[in-house]
Amino acid sequence: MALLDVRKINLSFGGLKVIDSLSFAVEENAIVSLIGPNGAGKTSVFNCLTGFYRPNDGDILFAGHSIARRKPHKITQGGMARTFQNLRLFKNMTVLENVMSGMHCRTSAGVVGALFRPRFQRREEALIRKVSEDCLDFVGILDQKDRYASNLPYGDQRRVEWARALATRPRLILFDEPAAGLNYDEKERLIQLIHRIRDELGITVLLIEHDMGLVMKISEWIYVIDYGHKIADGTAEDIKKNPRVIEAYLGKDENVAA
Ligand SMILES: Nc1ncnc2c1ncn2[C@@H]1O[C@H](COP(=O)(O)OP(=O)(O)OP(=O)(O)O)[C@@H](O)[C@H]1O
Ligand SMILES: [Mg+2]
Repeated sequence: MALLDVRKINLSFGGLKVIDSLSFAVEENAIVSLIGPNGAGKTSVFNCLTGFYRPNDGDILFAGHSIARRKPHKITQGGMARTFQNLRLFKNMTVLENVMSGMHCRTSAGVVGALFRPRFQRREEALIRKVSEDCLDFVGILDQKDRYASNLPYGDQRRVEWARALATRPRLILFDEPAAGLNYDEKERLIQLIHRIRDELGITVLLIEHDMGLVMKISEWIYVIDYGHKIADGTAEDIKKNPRVIEAYLGKDENVAA
């Protein structure tokens, strides 16, 4: 059984069909990419997986359970985490606070808890802090934890987002264009990090990415969509020479072989 099993989902906004009868699966412990030209519907797919959008029909199974109609925080609690195409950090919080904020989905603290269970809460807070620091250490910016997130260089701000997603202790992590805006060295470190996320933490990785060099290097399986529809899937070698893929990219002035 695949960890993620997307079955014939459709999504429209008004008359615009954004996802068109799309099916794909991600095996546990795999590193898989979802690629396609600008506007192909990739981020919309992530929004459906994480409960931000609700597909018009079809189903999404995560670890064998249907999540197509679940609320976003329930999906996070169930073990799926994501990072966003555009940075979404809290600018007036420190790096550590940003990462800790991602763990709220895992805490039991509510109003009642705050009144009656202070000792339990203090322990929980300490645990959240410890896990968050471990995640910052994992992505290599623990020494920056007390700085304001907005004062970090862009590449490090992306790392804060990755740490925040990891802190929810997911089974599946979705990266939406993690390499965008990174320089060559940062991209090389991203490749290593994705491998470590899978190999050391046992987390399955699904990524959207326009950097074809990175996609071809890292992906064990690639799905290609255009106009919300799957046009190909296969290994990097298959995808590089697939005429439908080349046409989809060349038609939009992008080059898959770049
Ligand atoms: N909430 C929305 N309302 C209306 N249209 C939307 C909405 N979200 C996405 N779309 C449209 O759906 C299409 C696919 O957008 P999406 O962001 O999923 O593409 P993408 O493949 O992620 O593109 P990019 O590579 O540029 O990030 C676009 O035409 C977009 O305008
Ligand atoms: Mg997108």
